[in-house]
Amino acid sequence: MMNKPKFHIFVCTSSRANGQQKGYCHTKGGVELVAKFMEEIEERDLGGEVFVNNTGCFGICEQGPVVVIYPGGTWYKGVTPDDVETIMEEHIEGGNIVERLAL
Ligand code: FES
Repeated sequence: MMNKPKFHIFVCTSSRANGQQKGYCHTKGGVELVAKFMEEIEERDLGGEVFVNNTGCFGICEQGPVVVIYPGGTWYKGVTPDDVETIMEEHIEGGNIVERLAL
């Protein structure tokens, strides 16, 4: 059986079950964020410990792009590609919430 991840990062890309996208995060760079997280995870060699998935709308579009991280259920708002590095460093590797981005 595969290992379960230590961290699970959910990035809103406004996806819906019918394959269409509705909402705002995908127009504000949500998809780019998923790619950036994947890059960072690989660069830091955390592939077995940190998973990233895109999700549907969290219902707070005006604060998007939204990223939610478990365990802990931390919600981040207005996340940019530059913030991904900070989140990886401070939250994933450092164990601290990035207060500047936290909801
Ligand atoms: S589309 Fe991302 S929170 Fe609504």
